[in-house]
Amino acid sequence: MAYRHFEFIEKHAWALGIATAVMVSIGGLAEITPLYMEANKVQPAEGIKPYDPLRLAGRDIYVREGCYLCHSQMIRALRFETQRYGPFSTASESVYDRPFQWGSKRTGPDLARIGGKYSDAWQRHHLIAPRSMVPESNMPNYPWLAHAAIDGVDLQARMRVLRGLGDPYTDADIDGAPKAVEGKTELDALVAYLQGLGVDNVPRAAAAAASAPAEGGAR
Ligand code: HEC
Repeated sequence: MAYRHFEFIEKHAWALGIATAVMVSIGGLAEITPLYMEANKVQPAEGIKPYDPLRLAGRDIYVREGCYLCHSQMIRALRFETQRYGPFSTASESVYDRPFQWGSKRTGPDLARIGGKYSDAWQRHHLIAPRSMVPESNMPNYPWLAHAAIDGVDLQARMRVLRGLGDPYTDADIDGAPKAVEGKTELDALVAYLQGLGVDNVPRAAAAAASAPAEGGAR
């Protein structure tokens, strides 16, 4: 009886197709559903706060300009990665990143810990004209950022949406946003965002743990 069922499926491509799709779907659900439930359980690590208005504006510019097409923000838990870039990335440091910027495409270096590596002035020159700082760079110029203003009211709307998704912005944070970005350019915002990466969003314990192996690495 069962044998005849198999024979039918094996002799009819459409039946084999449907049966395969059903089985793959069941397998897919079994794999994917628990991941969704896990993702909701990730809590912000101690000391991790949502982006302040200027950095939030900078993050939006980072996404708009497609910086993620060449830069990841995800340091793998491998020794050569942590020695080059710093503490490896954790899910709990990205809870306020929507969409997250992990990525794996590295035409340029990983930026998860770029904050404080260079001065603000270096970052500004580099964004306006990368080859003025790094002659062999193939990163595009972003000169218009220096002249574009930030819309504080638009930023407030973004903060309200993020609050709806669970970011703990207070009314005072949102009310104060236009003032916080008043007179700032997109370049100011992007540099502020970059200078916070790996400084503001890394749990202190992780930063301390990662500095230890680096000393032993000289052997
Ligand atoms: C076409 C690929 C490409 C794009 C797009 C790109 N970059 Fe780069 N970026 C690079 C390369 C290659 C380097 C390494 C050479 C250099 O420093 O310019 C780099 C270097 C950097 C550095 C210095 C990293 C370090 O550790 O020295 C920063 C900061 C940076 N990029 C930020 C950005 C930002 C912000 C954007 C979006 C506005 C962006 N990049 C877009 C390719 C890119």
